[in-house]
Amino acid sequence: MDELPPLVRRAHTVAERLGFPLTRDQSGPSASLPGVGRFLAVLAAGCADGRIGELGTGVGVGTAWMAGAMPVGCELVTVELDELRASAAREVLADEPGVEVITGDAFSVLAERAPFDLLFADGGKSDPAALVGLLRIGGRLVVDDVTPTQLLPPDSPYRTDDPKRRIFFTDPRLVSTEVVLPDLRNSLLVGTRVR
Ligand SMILES: C[S@@+](CC[C@H](N)C(=O)[O-])C[C@H]1O[C@@H](n2cnc3c(N)ncnc32)[C@H](O)[C@@H]1O
Repeated sequence: MDELPPLVRRAHTVAERLGFPLTRDQSGPSASLPGVGRFLAVLAAGCADGRIGELGTGVGVGTAWMAGAMPVGCELVTVELDELRASAAREVLADEPGVEVITGDAFSVLAERAPFDLLFADGGKSDPAALVGLLRIGGRLVVDDVTPTQLLPPDSPYRTDDPKRRIFFTDPRLVSTEVVLPDLRNSLLVGTRVR
């Protein structure tokens, strides 16, 4: 399970070249962890003839996990504000059919391509409720960079009110859960749109 797919290895090499962190970095953006990537790959593999969207490409690590697993005929649109990162991701994904890397504001671009079967919200400050509106019924929303509650400092305000968890667990259109990654230090949130 520790072995990375070749496309993801390629993305990691490009990330290292550009100095884009491969571990969760509290001071700025970083690439998706392998535990997140594997989870995205599982969901992407079920998107037959579907459409996947990613907000915030970085240099294409999460995209590589999804692109390598999605069935032929599935489309993946990923959007990155930073042109240097977007072009690095284009280099990683150049041979992947059905994958489009767009430079721009993710929410505005993806709003025009909705509805999605899978949305990975990993960049920008979009209104989470609006993101749910971009899913088709049965579509999934994934957000990472969540710290399991037991690992938060005792006085952390996120113990009682975390804006990310709030949307997943209060929006009546979603059935959601939190998944703690195998490293036991990070988790992600996933919700399926049911109405
Ligand atoms: C956490 S990184 C993305 C990591 C990537 N998804 C991966 O799996 O490796 C967040 C990225 O979002 C980009 N970003 C920030 N605001 C954005 C916006 N409004 N639209 C598109 N990209 C944005 C940042 O430039 C950064 O590269």
